[in-house]
Amino acid sequence: MQTIVRLADYRPSDYLIDRVDLDLRLHPTETRITATLALRPNPAGAPGAPLVLDGDELTLLAIALDGQPTGPGAIAVTPRSLTLHQPPQRPFLLAIETQVNPSANTKLMGLYRSNGVYCTQCEADGFRRITYFLDRPDVMAVYTTRIEADRDEAPVLLGNGNPVEQGEAGPGRHYAVWHDPHPKPAYLFALVGGRLGRVASRFTTMEGRDVEIAVYVEPGKEGRAGFALDAVARSMAWDERSFGRAYDLDVFNVVAVSDFNMGAMENKGLNIFNDKYVLASPDTATDADYANIEAIIAHEYFHNWSGNRVTCRDWFQLCLKEGLTVFRDQEFSSDERSRPVHRIAEVRTLRARQFPEDAGPLAHPVRPRAYREINNFYTATVYEKGAEIVRMLRTLLGAETFRRGMDRYFATCDGTAATVEDFLAAFAAESGRDLAHFARWYEQAGTPTVAVAGAYDPEGKTYTLSFRQSLPVVATEATAGATPEPLVIPVALGLVTPEGGTVEAASERVRDGVFVLDRAEDSLVFTGVAAAPVPSLFRGFSAPVKVEHALSHGDRLTLLAHDGDAFNRWQAAQSLAMEVVVGRARAGAPLGPEAGPEGAGLTAALATFLDREALDGGTLADPAFAALVLTLPGEQEVAQAIGAGVDPDAIWRARQTLRVQLGRDLGPRLLALRDALAEPRGAPFSPDAASAGRRALRNAALDLVAAADPEAGTALAVDQLEAAATMTDRLAALAVLSLVPGEAREAALARFGEAYRGEPLVLDKWFALQAMIPEAATLDRVRGLMRHPAFSLGNPNRVRSLIASFSLNNPTQFHRPDGAGYDLTAEVVLALDRKNPQVAARLLTAFNTWRMVEDGRRRHAEDALRRVAGTPGLSPDVSDIAGRSLA
Ligand code: PHE
Ligand code: ZN
Repeated sequence: MQTIVRLADYRPSDYLIDRVDLDLRLHPTETRITATLALRPNPAGAPGAPLVLDGDELTLLAIALDGQPTGPGAIAVTPRSLTLHQPPQRPFLLAIETQVNPSANTKLMGLYRSNGVYCTQCEADGFRRITYFLDRPDVMAVYTTRIEADRDEAPVLLGNGNPVEQGEAGPGRHYAVWHDPHPKPAYLFALVGGRLGRVASRFTTMEGRDVEIAVYVEPGKEGRAGFALDAVARSMAWDERSFGRAYDLDVFNVVAVSDFNMGAMENKGLNIFNDKYVLASPDTATDADYANIEAIIAHEYFHNWSGNRVTCRDWFQLCLKEGLTVFRDQEFSSDERSRPVHRIAEVRTLRARQFPEDAGPLAHPVRPRAYREINNFYTATVYEKGAEIVRMLRTLLGAETFRRGMDRYFATCDGTAATVEDFLAAFAAESGRDLAHFARWYEQAGTPTVAVAGAYDPEGKTYTLSFRQSLPVVATEATAGATPEPLVIPVALGLVTPEGGTVEAASERVRDGVFVLDRAEDSLVFTGVAAAPVPSLFRGFSAPVKVEHALSHGDRLTLLAHDGDAFNRWQAAQSLAMEVVVGRARAGAPLGPEAGPEGAGLTAALATFLDREALDGGTLADPAFAALVLTLPGEQEVAQAIGAGVDPDAIWRARQTLRVQLGRDLGPRLLALRDALAEPRGAPFSPDAASAGRRALRNAALDLVAAADPEAGTALAVDQLEAAATMTDRLAALAVLSLVPGEAREAALARFGEAYRGEPLVLDKWFALQAMIPEAATLDRVRGLMRHPAFSLGNPNRVRSLIASFSLNNPTQFHRPDGAGYDLTAEVVLALDRKNPQVAARLLTAFNTWRMVEDGRRRHAEDALRRVAGTPGLSPDVSDIAGRSLA
């Protein structure tokens, strides 16, 4: 078992590295690396301490100190370290020659090959798989990299920073030298060598720097790189406009590779991407793909300031770069697309992924206090809840003060490895406020619940809102398990009249529409309120909390129809649906044609909504918003609301019953909408938010119609599949067909699989659809597809599409009552662990909810987890997740 690393044990490095000269001779199986490190004792470290460099799976070929071979006994080498016992107590040079085998690197950490392309991944601790190093983010150096390779094999050679030199290096060999003037931690190092196609453009920064932007992809796929290239330029312009941040090198390169553990990586000047988040054409990518590409390109680009210019002191501060950068990419997407629609999408992700994490055995604070394996902390909590904290800070301080705080943070921390305290200090200084209390958001795990009650006094014309916040006690090894203390919770709110007007009510404690709840209990009195209002609370989802609020059915209908806050209109529809589905699921109700009087209430409300907004000359300002209003809460979200003794089949039946009723009762309206939104034949494709929104609403309508009338739905879907001009429409039709057992489904799936035989990223969608079919036969289908020639356990995208879709996105089948879904998952985790521990560990997080399910399933889940945990030779990654899941 790996040792625990604790935040409390942080101390500065005993040595620093000012410069790194790297010389890499690329070879498929015997790549040689000479690293010359300019070291010196750190004045803040322990004088005379030995120098302990990190290493992992390295072969040491040679080492020299100030040009001389080290004497006998001067160094000690273990599988994970190289120690120089008595380093000079003055600046010195250490030259280390190592050898690695990129072709054998299936962990995809360090230097590896993807489809023959050499590439690197060094976050969090992959650089030590290239050379011995002080592999920690607070050791920052200036890098010069010389890369040499066969010209045939790797005509393109890329590194960090700016290109400085290139030329011949003997018969058939060539080299390139790159220099990055900005000191950086090793996790931001990268290189690429391979045969790659290229598209490029230029951008002039507000400082007048002429930057060459290029996107490198598999040769022949250049036509699919244009959208990503454009997204880079839009990101650069946005960061100048919104945060005053300009790019700081002469080139910005993006490279797409097909084997990648995560989404993408912000290496300085050389972002490396999972090709899924670069390649797009109307025929191969959905609107969701376009939106993801834009968001992830922006995310990695924004890291250039929030992550690279200001990096993290240690990995406990991961949210400092990730939470902040997610916040920044969310703002970018909101500005480029529809703000309310994007906010709803953010909240759906948070509730579907972060809330369950925070409620399960893997819960941890946004800034964890301990870890065994840092790669397991790239979580929804660090990223998404981390972004919510930054958003709350802006809500509390106001947009202008927030922006000044950001400027101060960048100015004071530029070139440093910073902490959450440094970040908050910039805002405290700018606002004159003490943020110590607010900082608890970083320390306490678990989703807070805020209970609210409203009371109207007709005599005094006052309206009182009482708030009570409570936090779960979360005790895991990554937290102290201390009794939670009240948090600072911004409550954006407003009052609505039952007729839909705005109540002009006053309360001194509401500023700019925000009330700050910073005690366990508090109440808020509005005066001069003429009639009983309906409160609209947590507008725009102003805090990442669960709200318990006894609003009546009628109140929710009022909000759905009239709230001035679009997020809360959507939330009202979600809450109405949630009530129905949770009620039926708790009761174990059978599948039926309608969901009782509450179901009827919801359909009536949605009918009114559609009539007002979309049909009969209604102005459908935002079809994407309407599509979201028509989408019921997901099964996982319903499971969270039920909390314990969960029966996933009962949830599916409850949700499906409501879908059937909506499809039946709204059918004619949905069909009319579908026609009204049809794209004119031959209309040019646009991935923009407006066009995507129209497609989303049409397809949401088709989905509900098919739920109520599978036969009619199948016919419509078959037609749509034939006629579709975009992958969005084709995949939506296939998804509808995938839910209706029979000939039409199998024929359509077979045809689609054949048509996209040579397109791995499209086949991924096909794998995923099939893995998510909520039928008992899916397990065998998945096992069958694992033998499909396009499937490979070695490629993370394939594993995520086929296996993770089953384990994480098909609740009824993962949680099969006979335990076979758990067994399949455990089996794949164990097989994968031998190749790629990071991806295996992530798949194992599917068991996160195991304690919530009813007894029979829970026993099977526990058995499977124990089997994994008890397997000898587990990676630290998988053993960490298994151990914490069972604790
Ligand atoms: N730092 C990357 C991002 O969020 C994620 C990542 C982490 C990629 C670890 C690879 C390895 O932008
Ligand atoms: Zn990131």
